[in-house]
Amino acid sequence: MRFLVTGTAGFIGFHVARRLLRDGHSVVGFDGITPYYDVRLKRRRHATLNQMPGFAAVEAMLETPDALIEAVDGRNPDVVIHLAAQAGVRHSIEDPESYVSANLVGLLKVLELCRAVQPKHLVFSSTSSVYGMSPKSEFVETDVTDRPVSLYAATKKSGEVMAHSYAHLFGIPTTACRFFTVYGPSGRPDMSLFKFVRAILNDEPIDVFGEGKHERDFTYIDDLVEAIVRLVGCIPETGNPVVEADVTDSLSAVAPYREVNIAGGKTVGLMRYIELIEEILGRKARLNMLPMQPGDVVRTTASPALLKALTGYQPDTDIRTGLEKFIAWYLSEIHDASGRGVPA
Ligand SMILES: NC(=O)c1ccc[n+]([C@@H]2O[C@H](COP(=O)([O-])OP(=O)(O)OC[C@H]3O[C@@H](n4cnc5c(N)ncnc54)[C@H](O)[C@@H]3O)[C@@H](O)[C@H]2O)c1
Repeated sequence: MRFLVTGTAGFIGFHVARRLLRDGHSVVGFDGITPYYDVRLKRRRHATLNQMPGFAAVEAMLETPDALIEAVDGRNPDVVIHLAAQAGVRHSIEDPESYVSANLVGLLKVLELCRAVQPKHLVFSSTSSVYGMSPKSEFVETDVTDRPVSLYAATKKSGEVMAHSYAHLFGIPTTACRFFTVYGPSGRPDMSLFKFVRAILNDEPIDVFGEGKHERDFTYIDDLVEAIVRLVGCIPETGNPVVEADVTDSLSAVAPYREVNIAGGKTVGLMRYIELIEEILGRKARLNMLPMQPGDVVRTTASPALLKALTGYQPDTDIRTGLEKFIAWYLSEIHDASGRGVPA
């Protein structure tokens, strides 16, 4: 099949594109290589993909008029996987406009492309952050999600709503995937795992927000990719919900559109997470305990029931194995001989 994947120089887009290419598909990889974090890491990901048959990289911003339509170059994609976005909860307080630009205007351009080329399926990334401060022990896709506590979450929720309207108006089958804290090799330098490992190796203190009380439903990258690849084949049809005991389908009654949680299914406390990193590195962390940051949520735990009902799959990599793989990658690819972590 022919795929258009956006965000292929990013963490998740890189892994998704690589898997699709390994499976024999062709991929147009679209990314603006934004300077949100070290662009050398992004260029290195694209260089890896460029060595694989079937990959064509397009370096452009989503918001640039006609950039997406020119990227597909008259050969319509069968499936669009939209992963390019301005990510990060905390940065949305410092630079709100970049979120509106990438996550709202950029998404609109993707929706307009889909309106023009009518793919069999649009799969795109939303986030666990849309659940906000929900007190529920497990987040289900049909929970109310209109009380975001960060602009990042607000743009992602708005994106879901925009995509629903296009699914309804133009019959574009659409799945919004709510990702829960994704980690693994080639991960993002702004995320806690990357920062913790770098600081511990450099014997620098690590900032532990929320006094260490945070809990996260961590998802290992290969599990996330497996779930996305399987969801590509689960094309939503209006009025055809999954009917199974203990499963509530989020399928819209008026559009071929649904939201699906993708999560590891096991919530880990922040302090246990740090202990595991210490054990794997064989070094102690110096902790700088700090209060909750604005926009942060204390706990994220997903119900995996809908993903399992749709795909027969549930992420299963245990956190220690996933952390070991990340740290092995970090030590071989990032940590230089002088002890400073820099992308090569
Ligand atoms: N990593 C996680 O834990 C996580 C959790 C929830 C949701 N998500 C979502 O998953 C998606 C991918 O996240 P990621 O972790 O790979 O982030 P990332 O920052 O590594 O990748 C995003 C990519 O999009 C590109 N991009 C950003 N704005 C662009 C624009 N306007 N035009 C063109 N390209 C642009 C960037 O250059 C980058 O390479 C995002 O939508 C993010 O919000 C990620």
